[in-house]
Amino acid sequence: GSTALAASDRFAFDAIPIATDFTIHVPEGYSWAPVAKWGDPLFSDAPAFDPVSGVTTEGQARAFGENTDGMELFNIGGRQVIAVNHEYANTRTNLARSGGDVTSLDDVQLLQNAQGVAVFEVEEAEDGWRIVLDSDLNRRITHQTPMTLTGPAAGHDLLKTAADPEGRTVLGTMNNCGAGKTPWGTYLTCEENFNGYFGSTDQALELSAEFGRYGIGLEGRYAYETYDARFDLSQNINEPNRFGYIVEIDPADPTSTPMKRTALGRFKHENAACAVAPDGRVVVYLGDDERGEYLYKYVSDGVYTPGGDTSDLLVEGQLYAAKFTDDGRGEWIALTPEATGMDAAEIAIHTRLAASAVGATTMDRPEWVAVNPVAVEGYCALTNNKNRAVKPNAGGDETPVNGPNPRAENKYGQIVRWYPENDDHAAVDFTWDLYVMAGNPEVHDDAYAGSDNVHKGNMFNSPDGMMFDSAGLLWIQTDGDDSNEDGFAGMGNNQMLVGDPVSGEIRRFMTGPKGSEVTGITWSSDRRTAFVGIQHPKAPFPDGEGSLARSTIVAIKRDDNAVIG
Ligand code: FEO
Ligand code: CA
Ligand code: CA
Ligand code: CA
Repeated sequence: GSTALAASDRFAFDAIPIATDFTIHVPEGYSWAPVAKWGDPLFSDAPAFDPVSGVTTEGQARAFGENTDGMELFNIGGRQVIAVNHEYANTRTNLARSGGDVTSLDDVQLLQNAQGVAVFEVEEAEDGWRIVLDSDLNRRITHQTPMTLTGPAAGHDLLKTAADPEGRTVLGTMNNCGAGKTPWGTYLTCEENFNGYFGSTDQALELSAEFGRYGIGLEGRYAYETYDARFDLSQNINEPNRFGYIVEIDPADPTSTPMKRTALGRFKHENAACAVAPDGRVVVYLGDDERGEYLYKYVSDGVYTPGGDTSDLLVEGQLYAAKFTDDGRGEWIALTPEATGMDAAEIAIHTRLAASAVGATTMDRPEWVAVNPVAVEGYCALTNNKNRAVKPNAGGDETPVNGPNPRAENKYGQIVRWYPENDDHAAVDFTWDLYVMAGNPEVHDDAYAGSDNVHKGNMFNSPDGMMFDSAGLLWIQTDGDDSNEDGFAGMGNNQMLVGDPVSGEIRRFMTGPKGSEVTGITWSSDRRTAFVGIQHPKAPFPDGEGSLARSTIVAIKRDDNAVIG
């Protein structure tokens, strides 16, 4: 890397240094404050958060959940509503009452209520942003909320269970990672590591190769299977087939039933970035976050017209997987029955196998995808691939280095960018380049030093969350090694940086508390506040010594209240 990049004046802040402490830092002239913390009531019938024991099982279903992740803000009739994911649970924190052990059905239900999605109204008062308690738009969606399966897999035999013989109604959404917003104003929540919630009380149960490819095994991470038969594979073998989808939620109607959109495929969905093609078709870019898995896009059959019927736009369409060639070109390969030898429902359920069948390009863990609002280009954060040589993803393809994944031991990650042919996001062909290869120029002088836009003043590793602001600047969030040692020396805590797609310049805007990742960003309607998520912090963040750590959404503002994105 070099420091010789011409400084762009598109950044309205000075870069900040790394940090290794347990709080948040933002540039001079900016400030931050918490808006919502794990356990904050959304309704007045939820008990107040207890700094030692946390929340009760019932209270958790009426309160802000654990591990905030992707989020979007919606303006609903002038009211500002945040929809946000609660990705997973930290048993040591959430079950502090039992020392972190899952010992009963009640413990399982507390964890189930701590995850899923929260929808809540926020307002800006004299002393800052706050949750509007008891707003009629507030809602918690958990592992128990009924939802409808739509698209090619709905009603398939693999989705039928004793409780749902039609294969069309599922309870809950889980491991909700990144997010997306449709052009028609609904929220997309993305089911990522759903495999980890299932296990078997019969350790002799034999699992299919398809389960192997998705990482579904005999022992769940939270022992759900011991106390809740729905998650016990020996009793409900098809239940895992009902997770791993994109779920559409209408934040304007708290009584609406969330829709699982199987047409967008089943994998470890990171997020969903929408674009509208010149002819009006809706394009959704999708990453599958696992070593050696793929980048996807979905193109609707129908066209989007503002105010028109959108009910089939995420039901009927074509899914594609990306194939990159080393010469800077690439192609979206349609996952059709002809190309894959699978029928439409099988493609929707076993999407990874369909993409393998067409020879899609194995990637270094596709995390967030982002679409530039002021140029026709897409970005995907390829977070890292620590053990390419050791073992490819279970049951997956071999993962040699290739064009957009050029480093054998990739502990830093990179961001790939593609330019659709004819400025058409629905096009089959594209060209690509690497926007940045993260690295450490203090430790390395080869490819592991990173690309030219990485220098000692902006080093980071493991790009993950990404979102464009309305001016076309790319906000990059990291989820990596925050040891600040060895190959990571000089990088400090996880952080958020801002990238200029035109100049390539990347500047550090924020550092998170030690132990956390920074994930999820959205803006107030007037763009004078950025809401940013802090996931899995360690105490004393945010409430000080003596309190459990609490995942938190913070509001960041400029002291002069100017627009910040
Ligand atoms: Fe939930 Fe891939 O991050
Ligand atoms: Ca992520
Ligand atoms: Ca990550
Ligand atoms: Ca995470």
